Amino acid sequence: MRHFGRLIWIVIYGISTVSCQVKVEGFISDSVLLPCIYREGPLPDQFNVHWRDKDDKIVLDINNRVQDLTTQDQVFKGRVRSFPDEYKAGNFTVVLEQARQSDSGTYECHVPKVDFQRRVQLTVAGVKPTPSPGPRVGDGAVTLSSSVLPLLSAPVFLFWL
Ligand SMILES: *[C@@H]1O[C@H](CO)[C@@H](O)[C@H](O)[C@H]1NC(C)=O
Repeated sequence: MRHFGRLIWIVIYGISTVSCQVKVEGFISDSVLLPCIYREGPLPDQFNVHWRDKDDKIVLDINNRVQDLTTQDQVFKGRVRSFPDEYKAGNFTVVLEQARQSDSGTYECHVPKVDFQRRVQLTVAGVKPTPSPGPRVGDGAVTLSSSVLPLLSAPVFLFWL
């Protein structure tokens, strides 16, 4: 029973490590947080972290706990915020500022020394909705669209018959 429990744990852990791809959604011109947290164990004194985008462009390199802004791809210059105070806790999360639609895609956070890799699937679309000061304008819009949708699909349904 004890072994069985351990086996289950290994299987679940294995699946979660393999398929662990975080999905993040951001708005155009807004900031978006790309998480990367290493919790598998203590970190060695010296290690590098490599953030790469879908085209293997350098988003950010962290060399021995110091971010290296010289290697960064032009596309990401001045737009990536990293948190050195968090490195010791294994938190290599970055914030991508002024997000563009073209930023969408899969990002990879890689720590070769400890064989750690995380993927973040980013989608940047639309503009951030501005909070409406009016009395519950949003609710009305939602109700309208949900009642209009079945009506729109009705002709299709008739055609189907
Ligand atoms: C990692 O660092 C970021 C930036 O400081 C913070 O927002 C986030 O909450 C941290 N995550 C964890 C799990 O500590």
